Amino acid sequence: MNGKMTRREALKRLSATLITTAAAFSGLSALTSCKGGRRKRTILYFTATGNCLYVARELSDANTELLSIPQLMKQQRFDIEADEIGIVYPIYGHMPPNMVRRFIQKARLKADYKFAVLTYGARKCNAVEIWDDISRRAGHAFDYINTLIMVDNWLPNFDMNEQMKIDKHIPEHLQQIAADLAAQKHWHEPVSEEERQMHAGFMAYAGLNPEKGFLMDSKKYFTVTDACIGCGICASVCPRGNYELTSQGVKMQGDCEFCLSCIHNCPQKAIRFAKNEHDPLLGRGEVNPDARYRNEHISLMDIKRANSQF
Ligand SMILES: Cc1cc2nc3c(=O)[nH]c(=O)nc-3n(C[C@H](O)[C@H](O)[C@H](O)COP(=O)(O)O)c2cc1C
Ligand code: SF4
Ligand code: SF4
Repeated sequence: MNGKMTRREALKRLSATLITTAAAFSGLSALTSCKGGRRKRTILYFTATGNCLYVARELSDANTELLSIPQLMKQQRFDIEADEIGIVYPIYGHMPPNMVRRFIQKARLKADYKFAVLTYGARKCNAVEIWDDISRRAGHAFDYINTLIMVDNWLPNFDMNEQMKIDKHIPEHLQQIAADLAAQKHWHEPVSEEERQMHAGFMAYAGLNPEKGFLMDSKKYFTVTDACIGCGICASVCPRGNYELTSQGVKMQGDCEFCLSCIHNCPQKAIRFAKNEHDPLLGRGEVNPDARYRNEHISLMDIKRANSQF
């Protein structure tokens, strides 16, 4: 044919290319395990305002099991086995939530491929290395660790209404991560020396214990105003079960992840940060006490199911 393709051959080649590309992006190539069956992926997640649950769902297919870490902790379930195990969590001061740290220290993970996706809102610093270190010390080396920028739910620094307007190119980044996972890529997002130094500076300023991260005393940090209607949502969305409805109103106590699930999900915006000018984290109070956030793809019921300790 003098090196020329017929129209039929060209169409055949085009459709083969399209099928291969679609398979890579939809994760289809990840569906077959080396034993020949469909590959099972289990994703463990921690979420307060829904970003991580959304990401976990987006990285799922019909053969994926999604498990909430607060529920696993409640059940004291630490044995997880699948062809691929993933973890999705929000970074707090570039570190994992305390509960995620405790979970990984107790977990017995059995999988050929392990990946972690860390969501953040503005500055990730050396979050990837921090997870690599914590998980390795717990006996779990992760093959793939990446970060994903989303809405920043940290109320002391950000106005949620402004955050929601910023295009952070989430679908494009998610598509790239899905393709990496479909190819079982072995990769850790690189960290610069400047990012390591920024984290060290933050820790010195915030005075946090690097072995615990953000583990606070809820009573010291939050107050409930008269706007409270006693709906009990705060009690259902707290992954620590810190809230209780009493005849004198809502009471809270106990070690706190500082996840801000209670404060963001209260329909009355009745939960506020307690004023403490001497606290390096809360010295400036809130940027906009009237603005609260939950990921647009995630319902209040989803957050309750993920976190309720009842
Ligand atoms: C206590 C706390 C600390 C945070 N620290 C950081 C941080 O160091 N860097 C950053 O970029 N985002 C930080 N964030 C923002 C969250 O990591 C981000 O919004 C995340 O996607 C929220 O996930 P979720 O909706 O699943 O809870 C912090 C949020 C909280 C509540
Ligand atoms: S969620 Fe808000 S309004 Fe509902 S009980 Fe808790 S503090 Fe009160
Ligand atoms: S009290 Fe609020 S911030 Fe603390 S763990 Fe519970 S929901 Fe998260």
